[in-house]
Amino acid sequence: MLADKDRIFTNVYGFQPWNLPAAQKRGDWDKTKDLMAIGQDAIIDRIKASGLRGRGGAGFPTGMKWSFMPKEPRPDRPNFLVINADESEPGSCKDREIIRHDPHKLIEGALIAGFAMRARAAYIYIRGEYIREAETLFAAVKEAYDAGLLGKNACKSGYDFDVFVHRGAGAYICGEETAMLESLEGKKGQPRLKPPFPAGAGLYGCPTTVNNVESIAVVPTILRRGPEWFASFGNENNKGTKLFQISGHVNKPCVVEEAMSIPFHELIEKHCGGIRGGWDNLLAVIPGGSSVPLVPAAQIRDCPMDFDGLRALGSGLGTAAVIVMDKSTDIVRAISRLSYFYKHESCGQCTPCREGTGWMWRVMERLRTGDADISEIDTLQQVTKQVEGHTICALGDAAAWPIQGLIRHFRPELERRINERQAGAGMQEAAE
Ligand code: NAI
Ligand code: SF4
Repeated sequence: MLADKDRIFTNVYGFQPWNLPAAQKRGDWDKTKDLMAIGQDAIIDRIKASGLRGRGGAGFPTGMKWSFMPKEPRPDRPNFLVINADESEPGSCKDREIIRHDPHKLIEGALIAGFAMRARAAYIYIRGEYIREAETLFAAVKEAYDAGLLGKNACKSGYDFDVFVHRGAGAYICGEETAMLESLEGKKGQPRLKPPFPAGAGLYGCPTTVNNVESIAVVPTILRRGPEWFASFGNENNKGTKLFQISGHVNKPCVVEEAMSIPFHELIEKHCGGIRGGWDNLLAVIPGGSSVPLVPAAQIRDCPMDFDGLRALGSGLGTAAVIVMDKSTDIVRAISRLSYFYKHESCGQCTPCREGTGWMWRVMERLRTGDADISEIDTLQQVTKQVEGHTICALGDAAAWPIQGLIRHFRPELERRINERQAGAGMQEAAE
């Protein structure tokens, strides 16, 4: 179990105030100027050495992403940092806790990361539903400006840097990085084709890096404690500490910072008081937010909670939003509900997603009630394969994968419902 002294987010439960004086007591904004004085390339090298991988779900190496940014930005084409706080993945709630209780870690991280990638400013795009969190963030940014930590000659570093907070309006798709850029530019939030990636052409066509809240908020501590310290947790390809968000059928749902690669059963036993009704009552787990396939109980128990461990089970770490489902769960209904979510949130610009998400949801609803033919299970599987990988953004994949996971692991349950329904209809016909 991660020792308290190794926790980055020491105020994740909000036992202390979020404000600047309290944050400074916790060590935030301590000699930030000295951290910046090591130089832009040295900061990027240390983030690379720490092994930090993006915490928004995809796990792209953070230092490498920063190194794609031009080292000598043109005056008419400045570099920008965009921080993705549009946390909308069902099950995810870690960025919310950082912004509520530790916003200065994020703001200090924005300055250091922005400086390292030669950015003129950072835009924090916060989910529209996070109303109180946005208020906290606006107030924390103002505190930082008033204290001379942001703006001209930020922290007396000689570097000018602004932070702007932008509120979303409730669209899940605006969490996709290029839809977010469109939305920031005042347009309809629809993903762009990639490449070009944002580092080549991002906000207003300028070089841009989009990073998740947690990825940026851990940067000051990594620099203070050293990349080796961060890299000492987890394993070779999965380093550092991570905020896990455990919801569903555990005795104590929580958000907790743990070492990457902690085995699933340890995470649940140590922090969540175990599975509701005991381990024999566990049915399945969605380990990384709704976009990754479920893992059945028999496979997940000893799995290391990291990118590789979960990929080996045909799933993924995603945002580390762990949704636990016990045997009281109607698993077909649960996945059907997710299908509805993706249908509802599809931006509609590509046909496989626009048409496919609605089609998949309607079949899922019939499978839920058993009102389908057995052959439709295979047809549904084929349609998920037609959607997967054939769309502009990852929402198409995210809609397909949970259904694929259901079919892979719970086909007998789908067949049982259809057979029972048909047997019931047959008996009724005979009675008539
Ligand atoms: P992605 O794998 O396409 O990209 C990840 C990052 O790496 C992006 O910033 C991208 O620009 C960059 N990148 C990838 N290849 C690159 C290259 N060749 N050159 C330069 N940059 C490159 O994944 P995406 O679509 O950004 O994110 C998908 C993930 O987001 C899913 O795995 C899901 O878990 C997660 N997600 C998180 C949500 C949340 O609320 N936090 C909501 C929905 C999904
Ligand atoms: Fe829009 Fe779906 Fe295409 Fe993404 S995959 S661009 S959400 S239609």
